[in-house]
Amino acid sequence: MKFFIDTANLDQITEAQNLGILDGVTTNPSLMAKEGITGNSNIFNHYKKICEIVDGDVSAEVISTEFNGMVEEGNHLSKISDQIVVKIPMTKNGVKALKYFSNNNIKTNCTLIFSPGQALLAAKAGADYVSPFIGRLDDITSDGLSLISEIRQVFDNYNFKTEILSASIRHNMHIIDCAKIGSDVVTAPLSSIVGLLNHPLTDSGLKKFLDDHKKGN
Ligand code: G3P
Repeated sequence: MKFFIDTANLDQITEAQNLGILDGVTTNPSLMAKEGITGNSNIFNHYKKICEIVDGDVSAEVISTEFNGMVEEGNHLSKISDQIVVKIPMTKNGVKALKYFSNNNIKTNCTLIFSPGQALLAAKAGADYVSPFIGRLDDITSDGLSLISEIRQVFDNYNFKTEILSASIRHNMHIIDCAKIGSDVVTAPLSSIVGLLNHPLTDSGLKKFLDDHKKGN
């Protein structure tokens, strides 16, 4: 399973990259705004910086909701680096744009996926990734992880190459459950990724090993 970090924060991206487990980065307009990155040219330059830090795929989201605008923005963003994956919202124009980019060998990530039907349409249009949002479904008392299972089944039935990029991860268990279901990728905040490191028996076990070593010296 690939690990992406879901942030536009350069320090956190660097920390995850230095950990040696990072396969890519996802951002969205809200995450950019959270870092105070506003204005098209600042956002463009920020994507450049992210691509310089990581080796893998970097999702860069279009703002336009019109087909022509999505194509123009996506083509512009894709010139930053081969790492850029154009992130397109799940709308009718978005599906058309996914097909356009697929025909032009530009990688895409279809975002705001909340149903298996949406994921199926994105896959049919040639999306490289679909991003189902687990946490936001959980937030409205729906079952985000069931959506991942359903999409997994649909994609496996027809051998779609589109990768399931599970997003809107809220905690460590979401990551574990995604891995058990067979999600191809999870994108998560740094806190959820490094949270996987922790176990009290590891801490107490290490303490005992070090204490015992001291006794023998
Ligand atoms: O990047 C998209 C997704 O991960 C958003 O997560 O926490 O805003 O629901 P969240």
